[in-house]
Amino acid sequence: MRDIDPREITPEHLFLSRRSFITGTAAIAAGALLAGCGLGQSKQPPGTGGTAGTPGSVTSPTDELGDKLTSYQDVTHYNNFYEFTMSKEGVAEAAKDFKTSPWTVKVDGLVQQPRTFAMEEIYRMFPDEERIYRMRCVEAWSMVIPWLGSPLNKILTEVKPTAEAKYVRFEALLDPKQMPGQKDDFGVSWPYVEGLRLDEAMHDLTLLSTGLYGKRLLPQNGAPLRLVVPWKYGFKSIKSIVRISLVAERPVSYWTGYAPREYGFYANVNPNVDHPRWSQKSERRIGESGRRDTLMFNGYEDEVAQLYKGMDLTRDF
Ligand code: MTE
Repeated sequence: MRDIDPREITPEHLFLSRRSFITGTAAIAAGALLAGCGLGQSKQPPGTGGTAGTPGSVTSPTDELGDKLTSYQDVTHYNNFYEFTMSKEGVAEAAKDFKTSPWTVKVDGLVQQPRTFAMEEIYRMFPDEERIYRMRCVEAWSMVIPWLGSPLNKILTEVKPTAEAKYVRFEALLDPKQMPGQKDDFGVSWPYVEGLRLDEAMHDLTLLSTGLYGKRLLPQNGAPLRLVVPWKYGFKSIKSIVRISLVAERPVSYWTGYAPREYGFYANVNPNVDHPRWSQKSERRIGESGRRDTLMFNGYEDEVAQLYKGMDLTRDF
């Protein structure tokens, strides 16, 4: 199978009309947003151009399935971060001057002890662990990344959620001066927002990440703090978080708000539920040729399937 063609990702009438009257960067951005997270397709393979610096140390060259780590260069130069640019290869350059210090994260809502944490407190209070996770983008490409961070449940426990708290809402930074992509609002309002059910947020696999490849996160990967939920499509793993709120109602996340039929709230990796405009049965592992089968819950079925017992995963996607 080949990569997804932009024609497949963008509804055809939009693709054709766009070609006929829009030119330049604005057109690319508009087209990307019209088609949602399945956009910003790459024209060239990742790993070409740019410098990645050197990775720090990792504990293993593979994940628990024996899959090789994706190169540091690819992990840091093939990114989705629409606040900066729609070009996957362009994020590293566009975000290079992004100011990530000082940085605070407010944790509030239905909690007994709301608190604003400085990043230095987060580093100190929630020591890093390494977690090697597969990341499967809804666009049908994937990577294996050695993250650093601590389980989200630690910070949530610290603020003591009340009995009314049922969901967790995450908000990314809103700063159009630094994030040029936020100057354009093609019907999707900034900031980027994501959400999890409380039990998903408390699951041990759910990571609040501060680094990867043995080093602090670079801006393009969501510095200084991002979420990583390895059994869900990558768009759930919100970058550059400034606020985490415990709430009673299901939050409307960025992509779900834009196109609910295409980007569900749960967004669990599921090879049996196709995106309305492309198959989710297989994926392209960055750095490999050919395609590989997509695994149920991205290979974390044993760990997370019980969270969804009794749910119809084709309806509640
Ligand atoms: N978070 C924010 N704030 N903005 C984004 O555009 N893109 C998401 C997710 N988190 C995104 C985001 C998508 S679609 C993916 S696939 C992953 O980040 C990509 O993470 P990576 O670039 O570190 O591989």
